[in-house]
Amino acid sequence: MKQIYFDHAATTPLRPEVIEVMHQAMIAHFGNPSSTHQFGRQAKSGVEQARKTIAAQLGAHPSEIIFTSGGTEADNMIIYGSVRDLGVQRVITTAIEHHAVLHPLEDLRDRGLIELVFLSIDDSGNPDLNQLTALLTQESTKTLVSLMHVNNEIGTLLDVSRVAQICRDNNALFHSDTVQSIGHFTWNLQEIPIDFLTAAAHKFHGPKGVGFAFIRKKHPIKPLISGGAQERGFRAGTESVHSILGMEKAFVLAYQNLEQEKDYISGLKKYFIDQLKSRIPGVQFNGACSDPEKSTYTVLNVSLPLTTDQSLMMLFQLDMQGIACSKGSACQSGSTHASHVLTELRYDTARAANAIRFSLAHTNQTDEIDYTIDQLCALMAQ
Ligand SMILES: Cc1ncc(COP(=O)(O)O)c(C=O)c1O
Repeated sequence: MKQIYFDHAATTPLRPEVIEVMHQAMIAHFGNPSSTHQFGRQAKSGVEQARKTIAAQLGAHPSEIIFTSGGTEADNMIIYGSVRDLGVQRVITTAIEHHAVLHPLEDLRDRGLIELVFLSIDDSGNPDLNQLTALLTQESTKTLVSLMHVNNEIGTLLDVSRVAQICRDNNALFHSDTVQSIGHFTWNLQEIPIDFLTAAAHKFHGPKGVGFAFIRKKHPIKPLISGGAQERGFRAGTESVHSILGMEKAFVLAYQNLEQEKDYISGLKKYFIDQLKSRIPGVQFNGACSDPEKSTYTVLNVSLPLTTDQSLMMLFQLDMQGIACSKGSACQSGSTHASHVLTELRYDTARAANAIRFSLAHTNQTDEIDYTIDQLCALMAQ
C-alpha cells in the first residue's frame, strides 16, 4: 500500500543529515555541558555554536536564543514571564491562537492576573488591526500582544512587521508564536521590532522535544523551570545536546534550501488547489489558504461536500488508503467537533465538520496529490 504523508504541520520527518548529526553527537558529545572537563567542554561548545548559528540567521544576539523542549514551553515561558517579571497586566490576542498560547493566557485570566482581550477576526482568520491600534491608544496599561505568524490549521499569514510597528508605537510588547514559521520564512530581527518568538525543530525536519525562544535582551524574564544555571539562568536542566545539534542542522538546511523548496511546495499547493477545483465541484477553501499572498505555502485546509456519514469516516478511510492528513477537528466519542479555529471563523456546521488539512513538504510529489484526489472522489461516490 502507498504511504503518503500530508501532515507536515503536525510534524515533519527528519532529514537524513539531521539523523547523522544526532547520531554522531550522541557518540562524540555525550558529556554534560555544565562539566568543566574536556567532555563537558566539548558538549558545551557544540551547544554554544548551535546558538550562534541560529542567532546569526535570525539577526539576533546569541544570548537572545534560549533552548527549550519545544514550542509549547517557549510560548509558556514568554507568556508567564511577561506577566510575572515584566509587569504585563493586559494581553491582546485572538481566539484562533494555538492552545500553547491560549491555555496559559486563560489560566492567567482565570487567576485574575491579566485582562484578556480577543481581537475580532474576519472569515479568513485575519485579526482586526484597527481594533488593535484603538485598544493600544485608548489605554496605557502595560500590554502584551500575542499573535501567531502562521496559523497551524488554516495557514493564514499575519503581517508581523505591521503589528510590530503598531506595538512599538504604543509601547506594547509583541510576542508571535512562530512555530509554523521558523524554518519556512526568513526573519531579520534587527529590522522587525518584535520582542518574543518561538520555534520547534520538529516543524522544520528536526527532532521532536527541542525548540527555542527568542527573548530580546532588554526583557529580563526569569526561568519557568528552576534548578541549575543552564541557559545562563533562563532555563534549568541539562541540555539535550544531540537534540540541539540536530535542530541546528535542520535549521541550517531549512534556510539553505528555503527558496528552492518554497517554490517547489508552492507549485504543489497550486496543483492541489487546481485539481480539487476541477475534480470536486463544491470544494471550499478555508481561511485564506487558496491565496498564496495571504497564507503559508505548506497548508491547505479544505471542506468537501460530504454527507454526515462520509464526513465521520473520511479521515479513517483515507488512512486505510495510506494517506495521512488531519481533520482540522477533534473527533470525540464518535461525533465530530469542529476545531476552535474553524468555530471562530463562524463557518456553518457542515463546512467546519468536513474540513481536512493537507500540509505539504519538499518530500511530496504531484502523483501523491493525484492519488489522494482519486481516493477522495472514490470515497465521495460511495
Ligand atoms: C502554532 C503552534 N504553536 C505551538 C505548537 C507547539 O509546539 P510543540 O509541539 O513543539 O510543543 C505547535 C505545534 O503543533 C504549533 O503548531
